[in-house]
Amino acid sequence: MELLDKLNWRYAAKAMSGEKVSEEKIANIIEAARLAPTSSGLQPFEIIIVKNQKIKEQIKPFAWNQSVITDCSHLLVFAAWDTYTADRINKMFDLTNEIRGFKNEGWENYRQMLLNNYPQKDAEENFNHAAKQAYIAFSAAIIAAAYEGVDTTPIEGFEPAEVDKILGLREKGLRSCVMLAIGYRDADSDWLVNLKKVRKSTKDLVTIIE
Ligand SMILES: Cc1cc2nc3c(=O)[nH]c(=O)nc-3n(C[C@H](O)[C@H](O)[C@H](O)COP(=O)(O)O)c2cc1C
Repeated sequence: MELLDKLNWRYAAKAMSGEKVSEEKIANIIEAARLAPTSSGLQPFEIIIVKNQKIKEQIKPFAWNQSVITDCSHLLVFAAWDTYTADRINKMFDLTNEIRGFKNEGWENYRQMLLNNYPQKDAEENFNHAAKQAYIAFSAAIIAAAYEGVDTTPIEGFEPAEVDKILGLREKGLRSCVMLAIGYRDADSDWLVNLKKVRKSTKDLVTIIE
């Protein structure tokens, strides 16, 4: 199947079967999220992979009791930095220097520019910016899963503060922003599986400026 065929096959599964997804496929999906681009390359988020059924059950009531929370194979929780700190920014710039094996003046000036701007900003504003970056990786994970023939349900319908408590995220300077249930569709009990995909036309989506 070509990528677009796979993206047409993909839908937000409403029912999953509980069948486990192989760790190899999960690793490929996570790798796609890790490779996603982010603003200034900061990757200001972490991904928590919940395999533990008891933890999934704890989360479910705070996620509109959506069945896929417990019937999925792996539940990914995308948790963004609660703010940008000098330490967090420096770590990523230091990592770049370490991996590339040299220091570059332009890059160091850019680091300084971020250090002079981001940490001083309101934490909420910083979190919102970080969360946008997490969504890019979230989207990459969805596409990678479809490529692997694995179903997903993107989940924003949950109470982040409660999920943060269950996973102890605030203590780590993280806040959940979106979740992704990964598993296999239960076609027999999913009302959505055979319905046509609804998208606005390309004409309504795209403006071409020649
Ligand atoms: C950020 C985001 C949050 C979503 N939250 C939920 C959710 O909590 N529960 C759910 O069943 N679907 C959720 N969806 C699925 C959307 O409703 C779905 O992707 C959209 O209607 C398009 O349909 P399709 O993905 O089946 O093509 C979410 C999708 C996105 C991108």
